[in-house]
Amino acid sequence: MPKRTTKPAANASSPQARGARDAREPGPACRVALIGFGTVGRAVAKILCENGNGALRLTHICNRDVERKKQAWVSSNVPNNIPADVIWTDDVQSVLKSDVQIVIELIGGLHPAGEIVRNALESGKSVVTANKQLIARDGPDLLQLAARKGCQIEFGASVAGGVPVLPALRTGLCGDRLHGIAGILNGTCNYILSRIENARIPFSEALEEAQARGYAEADASEDLDGGDARAKLAILALAGLHTRVAPESIRARTIRAVDAVDFDYAAELECTIRQISRADLKGSTLCAEVGPCLVPTNSPFGRVQRNLNLVLTSGQYGGDMAFLGAGAGGDPTAVAVVSDLMFVAQSLSAGGGKREVASNVSTPEISSDFETPWYLRFFVRDQPGIVARLAQILAAHHLNIDSLLQKPGFEKASLPFVITLEPCHDSMLHPALQEMAGLDFAIRPCLCLPILR
Ligand SMILES: NC(=O)c1ccc[n+]([C@@H]2O[C@H](COP(=O)([O-])OP(=O)(O)OC[C@H]3O[C@@H](n4cnc5c(N)ncnc54)[C@H](OP(=O)(O)O)[C@@H]3O)[C@@H](O)[C@H]2O)c1
Repeated sequence: MPKRTTKPAANASSPQARGARDAREPGPACRVALIGFGTVGRAVAKILCENGNGALRLTHICNRDVERKKQAWVSSNVPNNIPADVIWTDDVQSVLKSDVQIVIELIGGLHPAGEIVRNALESGKSVVTANKQLIARDGPDLLQLAARKGCQIEFGASVAGGVPVLPALRTGLCGDRLHGIAGILNGTCNYILSRIENARIPFSEALEEAQARGYAEADASEDLDGGDARAKLAILALAGLHTRVAPESIRARTIRAVDAVDFDYAAELECTIRQISRADLKGSTLCAEVGPCLVPTNSPFGRVQRNLNLVLTSGQYGGDMAFLGAGAGGDPTAVAVVSDLMFVAQSLSAGGGKREVASNVSTPEISSDFETPWYLRFFVRDQPGIVARLAQILAAHHLNIDSLLQKPGFEKASLPFVITLEPCHDSMLHPALQEMAGLDFAIRPCLCLPILR
């Protein structure tokens, strides 16, 4: 038998062999499971099918009653990463026990999504999620769990959908010391308010229109009353201000009381009305709230139309930054999910690098005592002495009137007019409003909005 003369191959795991392999070909694709094949899940799978780069390999798609979810395009349109043998399953446990490295959670809600995410992290799998409820409530704990287990959790799509504000806060701006974040974070509210602004239609009509176009759910309370936006604000505060805030501790005011006439009066003040979520960190206190505010018409917030989102950040060194774009929708949100996925896959292939851990997160005192000028709108049954009575109450509480606006042409039985106040703290104004609530000529509660200049 002829003697072999070829040099023996280097040990496959030796540095020389690894170096030679790295130079020739990319490493093995990262194995990914998608749990939740709904609006965003389908869009994620579509991007992976159409735009894959070989670094990711979708091995499982998991959804309850999965048979009805199966799509031919997932296995037929298979360039690099969606193999024809992708496993469709409704058994979450089998996915968690498999050898996938990244779990994408796109079910939404707290249960069972929370348990799935925890189990995945416990077993050393990294997680990508768009779940704002879960991250707003458990984000700091999940970040710590991921760090303990040497894996990652990314949630870039959980706030502002496709607008890459969370990756910016966690990476691009982490060298600054941010002290303020403000945003238009709820597309439903922005759609409704900008429709009332542009068409001067009643609130109820704008809401019906938003529901008919699929921008608002049948029960839109979470959007209208600020629950959705404050969960997002809590996540922004965690990522940008390193503060742990329970969403329920952030005051939320509804937009339901905003009337078309408020846009007329706001216009007199060169303003419009938007639902604004804002958080300012001062020492160990976080001043935070969500609710409708007057904003200058020509300001970044005043120019945001339809269901777009805008986030502004203020930093000690970098100053102000703005992030604008589509805050929802399957495709934009899926872009954020796939971007997170690529980030995690790159980290894993580079040896499992991690983002910052939640160890420097503080638990501040929460306040809503902002100091601003104020807009007070009254609807009254007309009679002599109304303005004098209101002025008396305001003076008794040391509040200064800045202007008084009254447009002609309204019924005397339901007359709207506006008083604006010079800047004062919310806590000073509140007792005056309570006193005004008992006045017999008021036919609706006073609408009190901060004016953000
Ligand atoms: N849609 C957006 O514009 C948007 C924007 C930003 C963030 N997000 C977030 O993205 C996530 C997904 O939203 P989405 O709009 O894609 O929701 P979706 O359309 O309701 O999709 C959720 C999917 O998960 C499945 N599912 C629900 N519970 C399950 C369970 N226990 N086990 C297995 N599968 C289950 C649902 O199945 P069924 O078909 O049986 O219901 C559905 O296919 C949520 O956290 C949401 O807040 C969405």
